[in-house]
Order: sequence, then structure tokens, then C-alpha cells
Amino acid sequence: MPREFTTVGVVGLGTMGAGIAEVMARNGIRVIGVEVDQAGVARGHGHLQTSVARAVKRGKLTDAEAEELAGRVSFSTALDDLAAAELVVEAVPEDLELKRSVFQRLDAICPPETILATNTSALSVTEISVATARPSRVVGVHFFNPATVMRLAEVVRTVVTDPEVVDDVEALVRRLGKDDVTCGDRAGFIANALLFGYLNHAVAMYEQKYATREDIDTAMKLGCGLPMGPLALLDLIGVDTAYEILDTMYRQSRDRLHAPAPILKQMATAGLLGRKTGRGFYTYEGPDSPVVV
Ligand code: 3HC
Repeated sequence: MPREFTTVGVVGLGTMGAGIAEVMARNGIRVIGVEVDQAGVARGHGHLQTSVARAVKRGKLTDAEAEELAGRVSFSTALDDLAAAELVVEAVPEDLELKRSVFQRLDAICPPETILATNTSALSVTEISVATARPSRVVGVHFFNPATVMRLAEVVRTVVTDPEVVDDVEALVRRLGKDDVTCGDRAGFIANALLFGYLNHAVAMYEQKYATREDIDTAMKLGCGLPMGPLALLDLIGVDTAYEILDTMYRQSRDRLHAPAPILKQMATAGLLGRKTGRGFYTYEGPDSPVVV
């Protein structure tokens, strides 16, 4: 029988962490969300409240369910509070050393049977796992943005992950109402390995003035039946996150498909990160100001 988790920790309450916390709480699991400081907690709490309010408005949750959900989530700035968690999902920024240091600290805090999972998009789960003394209890669980809506999580095993740990996390994904797919520790796993070559190519087209941003997006939306075009999707994912993912995949594969289009780095440096900063390939706050190439 797979393990039934009652308390899960989530480290990092950005877009993904807050979404993961919400999905867990929606499915009856108690969540302890940890951020570095009170401002981070407030931001994470804000993400959660906005999303829950949207779910209520869309008829996905009743007011009573929203209240119960909120009652299941507690917030903290102390990793030590995760000693009570049976599973911890790390969702801090895509920086290997940062993730390794979080795992090292979690390893010292959490009981030996606690499973430590990373929501990394492309970094090596193996390299993260060896920062702990329990690599066999470390696994990747990769959610998609928006975590409350997308129906998949990838479960990533390393060469030393205990198969029971994989089974437990797969069962959890299904309990969250999502499908799971499993793969080994390869850059980008399954979905990002396929998706990001395409997104990168769309950026290169925009950079080469091959077509307007609207036409690039409309072509893929209406011509290929995708819910959104590649540039709008990059704004949703976050231009900085997309750059980091491509850079990591390129370093690992040396496949030119993944060599980040130069404008991505420039946009990330200039703070044009997409929806989260109000401006990316499109403008979400204030008058439209397309990226000049
Ligand atoms: N809670 C629950 N449900 C919600 C919700 C919330 N907070 N917000 C929206 N929904 C539901 C809506 O009710 C609706 O459900 P319905 O179809 O049953 O009515 C559905 O989600 C769609 O919502 P909206 O009508 O508000 O919005 P759109 O139709 O414009 O869809 C979108 C928005 C879901 C973002 C859609 O455009 C989409 O699927 N885009 C592609 C997203 C994608 O590809 N994500 C993966 C990115 S890659 C990634 O994350 C990997 C990482 O490593 C980078």
C-alpha cells in the first residue's frame, strides 16, 4: 500500500510553490509553507488567496471548501517547522547550489523516513540528492504552471531512488487528481525536453523579425490547437525561469536547440519577466510596450 501523506512541507512559495501548496490543501493534506522572510510569506499567501478566489469565482470551489482549504495551510519562515512533514516539496528558484543547501538543511531537520522531493524543472535530481545522507529518499516531482489547472506531474527517479518512494509519490500525484508520468534524471525530463526547444525557436523567430509576436502566437494557437502561443506561454512561465531552464539543458546536452536565444537573457536582466513583473513579450500593466529587437 502506498504511503498516505497527511502533512506535507513546501519550501518556496513563488508561483509554483504556492500552486503546489494549494493543490495539496485542496485534496485534504495539511501543508506547512516555508519562505525565507515575512515578505516572502506574504507574497505566497497572496498567490494562494488570489488563486482560491478565482477557483471560487469559476465554481471550482465552494466558499466553505475555500475556508477549509485555507485552514489546512500554515506559513513559516523556519525550515525547522518541517520536522513534522512526511514529505517536503522544494520549489525555490532554479539555482543548483541554493537547492543543494536547502536539501542539506532539510536532511538535518526531517526524520529519516521523510521523503524529500524537488520541483526542479531541469536541474539534476541526482546532484541535489547527494547533498543529503538519504539520496534513496530523494525524488523529483515536477508540476506544471498553473499547478492548480495542469493535469500532470512528472515523477523523476535517480539511479538510487528507492522504488517505494517513487510509488508513494506517484500515488500522491493521482490523489491530487493528476496523471503521473515517470522518467529518469535527464535534463528537462520529458515535457520540458520537448517543449523548450520549441519555445526557444519561437523567441529566435521573434528576434529575427520573422513575424510579429501576435502572429507567432496565433499561428500555434489556431493552427495547432494549443491553449496559448509560445510567447504568451513564456510570459506565464517567467522569462527568467525559461532562460535558466534552457541554459541548464544546453549545458547538459550541448544541443543547439537549447542554446538560449540571446534576447531571453537580456529580458531577464532588464526585469521583463512576463506576467509576474507586468511586462514580458506582452504588457500586462500599463500601456503596451513591445520588446525592441
Ligand atoms: N483553480 C482551479 N481552476 C482554475 C483556476 C484556479 N485557480 N484558474 C482557472 N481554473 C480553471 C478554469 O475554471 C477553467 O476550467 P474549465 O475549462 O473547466 O472551465 C480552466 O482552468 C481554464 O481557465 P481560464 O478559463 O481562466 O483560462 P484560460 O482558458 O485562458 O486558460 C490556461 C488559461 C490554463 C493558462 C491555458 O491557457 C493553458 O493551459 N495554457 C498553457 C499552460 C501550459 O502549457 N503550462 C505548462 C508550462 S511549462 C511548465 O510549467 C513547466 C515548468 O517547468 C516551466
